[in-house]
Amino acid sequence: MQMYDLIRKKRDGGELTDQEIRGFITAYTAGQVPDYQVAALLMAIYFRGMTRAETVTLTDAMAHSGDTLDLSAFGTFSVDKHSTGGVGDKTTLIVAPLVASLGGKVAKMSGRGLGHTGGTVDKLESIPGYRTDLSREAFLHQVEETGVAVIGQTGNLTPADKLLYALRDVTATVDSIPLITSSIMSKKLAAGSHNIVLDVKVGSGAFMKTPQQAEELAREMVRIGKDCGRRVAALLTDMDVPLGRAVGNALEVQEAVQVLRGDSHGDLREVSLALAAEMAALVHGWDPREARSRAEQALDSGAALACMRQWVAAQGGDPRCIDDPAQLPTAVYSREVVAPTDGYITAMDAERIGHAAVLLGAGRMQKGDTIAPGAGLYLHRKTGEAVRAGERLCTLYADEQARFSAAAEAYLDAITLSSSASGSRSLIYATIR
Ligand code: URA
Repeated sequence: MQMYDLIRKKRDGGELTDQEIRGFITAYTAGQVPDYQVAALLMAIYFRGMTRAETVTLTDAMAHSGDTLDLSAFGTFSVDKHSTGGVGDKTTLIVAPLVASLGGKVAKMSGRGLGHTGGTVDKLESIPGYRTDLSREAFLHQVEETGVAVIGQTGNLTPADKLLYALRDVTATVDSIPLITSSIMSKKLAAGSHNIVLDVKVGSGAFMKTPQQAEELAREMVRIGKDCGRRVAALLTDMDVPLGRAVGNALEVQEAVQVLRGDSHGDLREVSLALAAEMAALVHGWDPREARSRAEQALDSGAALACMRQWVAAQGGDPRCIDDPAQLPTAVYSREVVAPTDGYITAMDAERIGHAAVLLGAGRMQKGDTIAPGAGLYLHRKTGEAVRAGERLCTLYADEQARFSAAAEAYLDAITLSSSASGSRSLIYATIR
């Protein structure tokens, strides 16, 4: 395989063969191809795209570039979900115990936040004692016993994606549909679940800014998953506005628990129920109505909350946090941002709000930065809601007062306050099965 020939072929709009793609992934993972040649190939793919056959091969080659997890012991009950990333997206904390309480085997590897988006692993680590680094045996044992385990990405899973993602990040080639598809689906295939639900985010805080782009990505991912023998569905959900009201790790755990306790009834509950119902429908073959009604029952009866207690305790976390949020870490300082005038919030830039959370210490700009578990924002008002001059718009939380002014500025830049109300927004744009 000559990299030069591959780059030229793709640059000129040609279709790479199965052998060429597999050869490239094997050689790159083995450290035999310089980044500058891979960067050139990525840019050629960015502009020329890939055929379906090429994307399938790339995904499969990446999925097998390292270890894979064998979940066959769980038969057709293993189930996973993946969000393309957002702000305030704590749905995994709700959906994982909810689906486990309905009989699914949720064996999930999650990521950390980077840039403006949060990561489930950081949220879970804000629970004192929670371990995200279980051995493979302990992970599988816990899924068997409690129906759910959520850990960080461990071992040598999809090393090709780790290398390619880092390179895409610095060569402006992230937002390419075949490259996102192969990145996400290779990880999901390697992680082994038979059923996969994809939460494709749309809007200002997402990679896909329009429902059309998101639908194209979702259809591609669903097709590839099915071609590889998995049961897959995708939901297109709103990320124009942060999901729920809390942004920041311990704050988000607290809000997820409120939903599980039945104390919160907004967009977060709605999206979580839709995702959980889709997962349960795949696992059990239920029709969408039955799946939705069973998911609501599991939430309202407290079964999902009980499962969260067991899950957290099994992973070393302090289960008292589930019943008493005061046990979760809190920030040292808080500051309120109030409305300068009467009005309605007509828009929120979710990416900027995510950035404000990072400025408060809730996220990291670079891998390896430490985060403050109690830092973040609580949004008292969201898009479509009215506020009077002097009333609270949001509360900021940080461990150092010096962080407040830049974060308040980023937050105020992110919102649009108008004298008249805006129309209602969609929460779920489409379901692709
Ligand atoms: N998330 C991923 O895992 N990969 C991408 O390429 C984009 C989002």
